[in-house]
Amino acid sequence: MFVNIVNISKSYKTEGRFFRKSKRKVIDDITFSIKKGECLGLIGESGSGKSTLSRIILGLEKPEQGKVMMEGEPISKWMKNKKGGASVVFQDYTSSVNPSFTIRDIIAEPLLAVGDNKNLDERINELLAIVGLPHAAVHKYPHELSGGQLQRVCIARAIAIKPKFIVLDEAISSLDVSVQAQILELLHQLKEEMEITYLFVAHDLQAAANLCDRILFLYKGKIVEEADSANLALAQHEYAKKLLGSVMPFQGQ
Ligand SMILES: Nc1ncnc2c1ncn2[C@@H]1O[C@H](COP(=O)(O)OP(=O)(O)OP(=O)(O)O)[C@@H](O)[C@H]1O
Ligand SMILES: [Mg+2]
Repeated sequence: MFVNIVNISKSYKTEGRFFRKSKRKVIDDITFSIKKGECLGLIGESGSGKSTLSRIILGLEKPEQGKVMMEGEPISKWMKNKKGGASVVFQDYTSSVNPSFTIRDIIAEPLLAVGDNKNLDERINELLAIVGLPHAAVHKYPHELSGGQLQRVCIARAIAIKPKFIVLDEAISSLDVSVQAQILELLHQLKEEMEITYLFVAHDLQAAANLCDRILFLYKGKIVEEADSANLALAQHEYAKKLLGSVMPFQGQ
């Protein structure tokens, strides 16, 4: 599973002064690829366009210019042919689950959507075990779980359909550091076991460097730097260096 993002641009209308409408470019001519089985990090400050770009890559939003190709096919065609080929975990896990569904129903939802109900309960139990949740969670409702537990449910739901590609948009940002570490470990394991291709979106460079093979730095709608996680210290752009300075305080001493 490889992804090519080619010359993507996107603007949003903004209300200017005196109700004058103007357009603001949020994504500015972005081109990059994600290799098969790669975990690519996308780092940028709040408002830099990370979620917009993620939605465009998943085909949830149309770009103004450019195209997204999955395994050489336009995203819209690929999504139609490969039902369940891609999934997403958002930061706001509380609003991405239906509060009146039990955990069982939440995890079953994408499987049923692709018409796959064979050994459903057995597989839900397996998925719960993979993300480290007890079997008893199946009968619970979202409000009965902690943030970290509910985020695990979202990850279980995202991997239920055995996707080839997962976008994690700030999926662990709002969790405690210890829970973040556990979930990073889990994502790492899944990557090894299921050969998933990841786009890991974050504003936290440390988490991304921990999980990803390569990191792209998004700044004001443009990719300003690309670096292998192993060679982050070589980054040149000021914004990348600033972020690096905050996670590697002893660098250069
Ligand atoms: N549907 C929309 N309509 C108008 N403007 C939008 C829309 N979605 C996003 N924007 C604007 O586009 C810019 C980029 O937003 P985006 O959500 O992609 O940033 P982000 O990098 O994901 O930020 P964060 O780290 O806070 O999640 C912001 O200025 C935002 O206000
Ligand atoms: Mg965002």
